[in-house]
Amino acid sequence: MSKSKWYSLTTIFVIAMLALSACGGGAQKVEVFSWWTGGGEAAGLEAMIKVFNEKNPNVEFINAAVAGGAGTNARAVLATRLQAGDPPDSWQGHAGQELIGTYVAGKQIQPLNDLYESEGWLDVMPETLIPLISQDGNIYSVPVNIHRANVLWYNPAILEANGVSVPTTMDEWFAAMDTLQAAGVTPLALGEQWTKMHLMETVLLGSLGPEKYNGLWDGSTDWGSAEVKGALDNFQKILGYTNSDSASLSWQDAAQLVVNGNAAFNVMGDWAEGYFRELGKTPNTDYGWTPVPGSVGIFQFLSDSFVLAVGAPDEEGAIAWLKVAGSKEGQEAFNPVKGSICARTDCDKSLFGEYLQSAMDDWASDTVVGSLTHGVVANDSWKSEIDTALGLFIQDGNVDGFQAALVAACASSGPCK
Ligand code: GAL
Repeated sequence: MSKSKWYSLTTIFVIAMLALSACGGGAQKVEVFSWWTGGGEAAGLEAMIKVFNEKNPNVEFINAAVAGGAGTNARAVLATRLQAGDPPDSWQGHAGQELIGTYVAGKQIQPLNDLYESEGWLDVMPETLIPLISQDGNIYSVPVNIHRANVLWYNPAILEANGVSVPTTMDEWFAAMDTLQAAGVTPLALGEQWTKMHLMETVLLGSLGPEKYNGLWDGSTDWGSAEVKGALDNFQKILGYTNSDSASLSWQDAAQLVVNGNAAFNVMGDWAEGYFRELGKTPNTDYGWTPVPGSVGIFQFLSDSFVLAVGAPDEEGAIAWLKVAGSKEGQEAFNPVKGSICARTDCDKSLFGEYLQSAMDDWASDTVVGSLTHGVVANDSWKSEIDTALGLFIQDGNVDGFQAALVAACASSGPCK
């Protein structure tokens, strides 16, 4: 082969390779990390991925979800990856202390002010949410939803058959559960440990009220006080109404006990509604809802918010994903399935079912407080100390010891220094 022929063949080859890599063939891809693999959750994510794929036909979407409710497993896997310098492009975080105290503090995520500007998000995201995802004038992450934590789900037929009305106060709830227990019905369905923390935070709220509950997280409520002792006594009493196999049940397993008629109540965030719908259950027939007793008029919230990694392998792909996550179309596809309301304020209400429409009304008019289990009010180290204390308490049932450990946790990782 002549030299010039060889050169031109080589040139053609190089051009062909460049063209191939530019026009698809997985050239661009985005890896998005979450824990939405289970009932109700995966379907919501899939609905948003569909919007993404329609808008970005040349970007490969890699769904790197790790199973386990509330991110208990996923967050451990993520931490290992971040430590190894192998971040996914984007991941699910929680607005509030989890985001600020962990990912921003660790310089693991990038500010998105430009994106907020170009997408006009400051006009459509709730004012209450922006400070929870901001530090020093920088906005980190894109909130995709608002979930409610303090929901008591119930089986209407079981309540009716036992002459029990829907409780609104702690005392009414105890009386209802006494009646159900005496009738041989499991009063309250419960699952693995994080669901116990979830139950605990709602009982703290229902027992203390919103101001004192908020004070737990800013240091103005004394964790060692008689009121907190009273709330923990309530929590201990409530644990006595639950199924004995809770440790081995996921949140879906526990929620399902209610809609299958095997338990009367379950306290769970409103992602349970997405699951009930996926199971083909009918609102107000197969399941009813009310705020956790004592917390009527209070909306204990959390928000799933997607971040942009520092060192994202495909930053362009990640931005394309975040644009969908923050868009009206993306949020309207995701939230009605996921069992949450949009973070955006301009979603079409008629796309949502009865429960979520009621959640929208409550979000607009209730007193809003944040969730512990889902990252709003405490940073990861404080939350993990509370979790350790809770684990011991579940074993030994010693309220005084538990309270002392909670006092110590606030002093070492919280604002009670
Ligand atoms: C929460 C998350 C919700 C839902 C729930 C159960 O932490 O914010 O979106 O996924 O866990 O897994």
